[in-house]
Amino acid sequence: MARILITSALPYINGVKHLGNLAGSMLPADVFARFQRLMGEEVLFICATDEHGTPAELAAVEAGQSVEEYCLEQHEIQARIAKGFQLSFDWFGRSSSQANRELTQAFADRLEDAGLIEERTSRQVYSIDDGRFLPDRYVEGTCPSCGYEKARGDQCDGCGRLLDPVDLINPYSAVSGSRRVEIRDTQHLFLLQSRMQDRIRAWVDERAGAWPQLTSSIAYKWLDEGLQDRSITRDLSWGVPVSRNGHPRPGFETKVYYVWFDAPIEYIGATREWAEATGGNWERWWRTDKGAEDVTYVEFMGKDNVAFHTVSFPATLLGSGEPWKLVDRLKAFNWLTWYGGKFSTSQKRGVFMDAALELLPADYWRWFLTANAPEGSDAPFTWEAFQNSVNSDLANVLGNFVNRITRYAQSKFDGRVPLEGEPGADEAWIEGELAQRLPALIAHYQAMDFRKAAAETRAIWAAGNEYLTRAEPWVKYKTSVEASAVGVRTGLNLAALFGVIAQPIIPAAAESILSALGVPPEARSFRFGDPRSCLDALPRGSAITAPPVLFAKIEDTQTADWRVRFGGG
Ligand code: MF3
Ligand code: ZN
Repeated sequence: MARILITSALPYINGVKHLGNLAGSMLPADVFARFQRLMGEEVLFICATDEHGTPAELAAVEAGQSVEEYCLEQHEIQARIAKGFQLSFDWFGRSSSQANRELTQAFADRLEDAGLIEERTSRQVYSIDDGRFLPDRYVEGTCPSCGYEKARGDQCDGCGRLLDPVDLINPYSAVSGSRRVEIRDTQHLFLLQSRMQDRIRAWVDERAGAWPQLTSSIAYKWLDEGLQDRSITRDLSWGVPVSRNGHPRPGFETKVYYVWFDAPIEYIGATREWAEATGGNWERWWRTDKGAEDVTYVEFMGKDNVAFHTVSFPATLLGSGEPWKLVDRLKAFNWLTWYGGKFSTSQKRGVFMDAALELLPADYWRWFLTANAPEGSDAPFTWEAFQNSVNSDLANVLGNFVNRITRYAQSKFDGRVPLEGEPGADEAWIEGELAQRLPALIAHYQAMDFRKAAAETRAIWAAGNEYLTRAEPWVKYKTSVEASAVGVRTGLNLAALFGVIAQPIIPAAAESILSALGVPPEARSFRFGDPRSCLDALPRGSAITAPPVLFAKIEDTQTADWRVRFGGG
């Protein structure tokens, strides 16, 4: 049994995520975790909320809550929604956990011991009325190069130039609007990534062969530009306190580690949270001196996260000098767009995860977002395509098939898997299809080609429909019950197989099919026998029922209503 560690990029705590966040990391990670479990592998699937940083602090202020209260409440909301989408995390942790605090502080200590951390003084904008240093993008002012008056401290939207906030003309605080700002000296810890350039390049060279093009090109772009030393602390109160060997670090009492320093460490932190809660052994997944050398570690994320996962986080792990497990396979996604544009709550553009579940059950979304994953390029969500895919793939091709064959078995064969009749030419045809298609399906999943896996799943369902068109058990029944019986038995076994292969993407519908057909858990795996045995797997004579309607068609009146509420078209 292989051991597979799977992480999804951690969703930010500030607010419910939209369908694009789901489609670009958490959902494919879940589909892959489910697939690997069905292959019989030992899987640990980890996610968490990414809770630190200025946006969380500001969102809490806006909500009139303390940041602790706000994060706890938002974590619970996101956990509940994740459950609603049937995301099968083994643990959904919090980057503000004690485990992550300890790990983050320990990593900083090890990096400093290795001579890779240095204190440096920098000049930063301080807002007197806000009583704090302002993070780069919360300082605004006039762009020194083009004169645009609302340039952000990190970048000017007028000319696109990257800026240093201290260079803005007439700067003001974007938090309060106050113009009483001044430039003050402040101390920060810098991680000397420039010294790790060669080590990281060697590591990337070793792994990149197994990474998709999108991933390796981003990693090399950063390496080719030359790794910059980066500040890993911020003047903030919400975060992991800066320490040295277990004590507050002098001069850093009002500072915390930068959110992008502690967030990826939470992959390990959440595994420790899991271990503490379940009695599991976290080191076996993360320490190559404690068994993790056998682990395959797979990460899922949007493309904007790739540099952090191919360069920054590896710099933390490698720089520590300790035997940590590093990523083996990395699956990155482009953007899911809303009709080609951005999702936006304020402009009522797009569906967020909580609203989606109020409209339709998780499977509808899971199917569409997997079959149309933004894999090779950005991919649009449109109501038209969604309606089409649900009505055709789920309601017709899968739902009608299962419904028709189970009802027919109920009315003509006493609700049992028929005993009589032997396979003939039609059965040989569908066997041939399965002999080609089942291995292809597995190969697509192994390659993490999710669109292809969904397309192959649908193609197998479609082949089943084609089989029934050829075998016509309802016509044969009039002349030979035995001839009809073969068709019905084969059809019922196909329905069971369709349920099995549906499990990674649409787990609720799969469960409904498999339990209606009485398929026990041990007969639901992806280790398929030869196709002939797949088509005679249900014990002959065993009782079956018809599942409730699996998928309701989406009506034009519904999409018309949704267009008004969520935008589109
Ligand atoms: N919260 C980040 C985002 O949504 C992802 C963090 S991933 C981790 O872009 F590496 F930091 F964990
Ligand atoms: Zn400008």
